[in-house]
Amino acid sequence: MRVTGKPVRVSGLSLVVILCGLWVTAARTQTVQPKQAGSVPGSHQLPPWRVPDIAALPDDAKGQLVRYGRDLMTQTTALIGPDAPVEQLRFSRSGLECANCHIDAGTVRYALPLVGIANLYPKFSARIDAQQDLAERVNDCMERSVNGRPLPLDSREMQALLAYLSFLGSGSTPGQAPIGRGAPQLPLPTRAADPRRGATVYQSVCAACHQANGLGVQLQLSDRLIRKQRYLYPPLWGPDSYNDGAGMAHIVTGAWFVHANMPKGVSFQYPLLAVDDAYDVMAFVDTQARPHKADLAKDYPDEWLKPIGTLYPPWPGKFSAAQNRFGPWQPILAWRKANPPPPASIGQPAANDLEEIVHSTAPR
Ligand code: HEC
Ligand code: HEC
Repeated sequence: MRVTGKPVRVSGLSLVVILCGLWVTAARTQTVQPKQAGSVPGSHQLPPWRVPDIAALPDDAKGQLVRYGRDLMTQTTALIGPDAPVEQLRFSRSGLECANCHIDAGTVRYALPLVGIANLYPKFSARIDAQQDLAERVNDCMERSVNGRPLPLDSREMQALLAYLSFLGSGSTPGQAPIGRGAPQLPLPTRAADPRRGATVYQSVCAACHQANGLGVQLQLSDRLIRKQRYLYPPLWGPDSYNDGAGMAHIVTGAWFVHANMPKGVSFQYPLLAVDDAYDVMAFVDTQARPHKADLAKDYPDEWLKPIGTLYPPWPGKFSAAQNRFGPWQPILAWRKANPPPPASIGQPAANDLEEIVHSTAPR
């Protein structure tokens, strides 16, 4: 099913049929040639994707720390979240597991993988306009994506996450991002992303799992205890979801992730959504009620580096709030390029570089 102009309308039953088909297709992707191009040009000639084998690690102190780090990714709510046994361990306040976004504990290409990224840090972060190390990057997701508080650097939990990330980074070249990091870039729409149209896409494609009210489907208590997870289908908005300062709360970042990875079961090589539908649906999702991160106005001290599609002010230039949020974004990018920031700005990379502005919405 390829969706072009109009939002998709599928009944619940046909969606189930389509999704079953997708899983079958996914299982066969090794041998079957694609009927349609994926969102990544030449995606079938990509270099192989190598994930270090965690099962091969010995059961010593180091191996146990790495495995605990992996468990923290997949069992976030139970180990360091709202379902943790003691209050001191409840660092995350959301119902999300890290692996709800970093699919399969960060091992899947173009599904926000964490394979091969440890060596990229410390690196420049446009959000703080300074260098940031890997622990600080983890705490960004702690404070935003899972709406919690930062893990202390000397905690066993932070040490375990760093050990897991460093294990996933073994064999990678320092400073060189793996091909497959983040989510594949999509062309920007030439019109404004449309949350009302997105609501229709949402109800027809996403609501079957994430529910019409966006709150997802919680596991029954007995299953929660066994799986150490809170949700069967995680919430996309509401009190248990990511907050308004999260990467996923940027329309562009969200659209790139969703296009390559949703509905669950698709891959970047076999996307289901049309590109415009991905932007529209995330314009809808990201403007629903969700927890608020304090002090968002302090993000992106250099406004020129603020990713397009960021929903909160301030934005540089004289564009309306609506255009900054929903686009069309090309005129904004062209204006930023033609009007470099004032000299007082301490922007580090070429602040008016279109690539950098688009890129800073998602990892490379
Ligand atoms: C709601 C989705 C979501 C959840 C949940 C989430 N993340 Fe993230 N994470 C993202 C996105 C999106 C990015 C890239 C953001 C960007 O650069 O704009 C990211 C980036 C990262 C990075 C940097 C990756 C790179 O390529 O440089 C690390 C490390 C990370 N997350 C760790 C975690 C950990 C640990 C958790 C759980 C505590 C977590 N994340 C939970 C969405 C999420
Ligand atoms: C077949 C069920 C299904 C459908 C349909 C589906 N999703 Fe998901 N979605 C999931 C599951 C399951 C996860 C968690 C992934 C994991 O843990 O491996 C998820 C995760 C997500 C996440 C990151 C976690 C979070 O809660 O924020 C986003 C964002 C998301 N989906 C958006 C969408 C959008 C938008 C659509 C419609 C275009 C959609 N999904 C359709 C099952 C589904």
